Amino acid sequence: MNSSPIKPQLGTCYYPEHWPEEQWQDDARRMAELGLSIVRVGEFAWSRFESKPGVFDFDWMDRALDVLDSHGLGVVMCTPTATPPRWMIDKHPDMLAVDANGHVRKFGSRRHYCFSHQGYLQESVRIADVMGKRYGKHKAIIGWQIDNEYSCHDTVISYSDNAKHAFQNWLEAKYQSIDSLNQAWGNVFWSMEYSCFTQIELPNLTVTEPNPSHCLDFQRFSSDQVAAYNKAQAEVLRTYTDTPLIHNYMGRIVDFDHFKVGDDLDIASWDSYPLGFLVDRTEASDEWKQRFERQGDPDLQAFHHDLYRAVGKGRWWVMEQQPGPVNWAPNNPAPLDGMVRLWTFEAIAHQAEAVCYFRWRQAPFAQEQMHAGLLRPDSQPSAVYDEVRQTSNEIQTLGEVAPAQAKVALVFDYESCWAWQTQPQGEDFDNFVLCFEFYRALRRNGLSVDILPPTVKSLDGYKMVLAPGLLAWPTGFLELVENFKGTALLGPRSGSKTENLSIPTPLPPAIGSLDCKVSYVETFPLSSPRELVNGGAVRTWLETVETSEKALEQTVDGTPVLVGESNIKYLCGWPDSAAMARIIAALAREANIEVKTMPEGVRRRCTGSHEFIFNHNAEAVEFAGDVLQAADVLIREI
Ligand code: GAL
Repeated sequence: MNSSPIKPQLGTCYYPEHWPEEQWQDDARRMAELGLSIVRVGEFAWSRFESKPGVFDFDWMDRALDVLDSHGLGVVMCTPTATPPRWMIDKHPDMLAVDANGHVRKFGSRRHYCFSHQGYLQESVRIADVMGKRYGKHKAIIGWQIDNEYSCHDTVISYSDNAKHAFQNWLEAKYQSIDSLNQAWGNVFWSMEYSCFTQIELPNLTVTEPNPSHCLDFQRFSSDQVAAYNKAQAEVLRTYTDTPLIHNYMGRIVDFDHFKVGDDLDIASWDSYPLGFLVDRTEASDEWKQRFERQGDPDLQAFHHDLYRAVGKGRWWVMEQQPGPVNWAPNNPAPLDGMVRLWTFEAIAHQAEAVCYFRWRQAPFAQEQMHAGLLRPDSQPSAVYDEVRQTSNEIQTLGEVAPAQAKVALVFDYESCWAWQTQPQGEDFDNFVLCFEFYRALRRNGLSVDILPPTVKSLDGYKMVLAPGLLAWPTGFLELVENFKGTALLGPRSGSKTENLSIPTPLPPAIGSLDCKVSYVETFPLSSPRELVNGGAVRTWLETVETSEKALEQTVDGTPVLVGESNIKYLCGWPDSAAMARIIAALAREANIEVKTMPEGVRRRCTGSHEFIFNHNAEAVEFAGDVLQAADVLIREI
């Protein structure tokens, strides 16, 4: 974890190749004058760096760096590998990814490559090498971004022949013999047994659902391909630079293991588009979406801040912050006045080192011409410009933010997301949503949260730990829990499968000190929740357990839902929001954690030096004797 005080910085994403060179000086001057100190460049500029194979032109970027440097701006240089130029496809016609229907995903936008194409991997390493050599020691450069948003536009999974062959090799390395693969996947079922690895196809275009163990391994393989691709670039850049290596992850993307990619980088960053995400990446009622239409979901950004702080092992940024209407959601409202400032401070409250706005100037051409920037296409300030200036002035007076460990930890596991996507058992079971709803319930109780990877080795310093939805118990995790002095809330569904996605014996959850065994599971539609005696209900998922433990919560017909008299509790169902908030509050009190019931849309986070209170509502709200204005933030030193 990062324990040094943070002096937050602001920045922007800039594309010198989009603008006449005469404009660069003025742009850089205005950036510095606005209080920005970081500029990200280069992530889509491959066709300008290398117009034909081996024909390079970096002179323009040299000049752009000089201009930015002369205004004291620190530069994040990017490898441009998310946008292979057109000639690359002529050179490697089979480098394009293939979708689940077997269609090739063509050139003409971006992210058009298959992670399993060795030729493209080598091209990516080559351009990283050329750029590392040229800019590795450049004095303006303060960090490197590798590629851009892995998985954006659904680009992790590819059903290409290259992926198939690489998958077969991956399986052979994992299982060693075809018999052990057949055994692990249960291929005796439906006569799916193989006699050699080269018979194994990718799990698409089957008559009915493919074997879930096959799907899970394919997802693991695809995730490993992303990590390997990233690592290959990271290794070459490290030979030239000591500045931090970064990737800009996305929101609500779970189809590769970000913790594994993060292991090869120094800082995690993510791209925060709260209004677009509310519409197309949040499960919420229409009423909720309407209420927060111009503010974004009050918990979704915070969840990602905490997740990526974990991925970056304490060091994280917002690399792209929405500054106005975007172009890509079904509808694209403008943020309410004050929200860009609120989002910026929210990131800082979650211990971000930097927040960069996407983008400096709105592009008048191509796909994103309707996407706002800090400047309009005519270079006049956009609607948010003064708000950014105000924010940057306030950050100066805020001073340093001291990081702090939270009292509550939530374990989040990407493999479990893949497992439950493969075998949801009920159409509404989604592991991201399950974990996110726990997170929201914690925040409704005024709690700050750390997110932990499943590989966590110590729970020291925490008073409460939550582990919902884990596929299998991670190695050593139950021992940690058995020795934990605080309150552990495990389940629902946690530990219910083996790593290969089969049902284990003894039956789950098989927690040593807890007498509880799941006999069977029911799922039901959101419209048929099962009411709880203490109020609220169980939605989507309910386990019937054999237990001699006291039921702390039960349905009105007597099915236990929360069991465990000691500090280890098992949750046998998915509580709705009212029940979840109530259960979390009770357990937090039991763990001696102070609970503050927050008004809807008001959220709070504490660092080691400050308490931040955010009002995501479009109207003023009273909280603990203070009146919080609409879309406002209150900051107190503690
Ligand atoms: C991000 C991406 C940017 C830009 C932006 C638009 O996902 O990294 O390049 O496309 O979205 O909102």
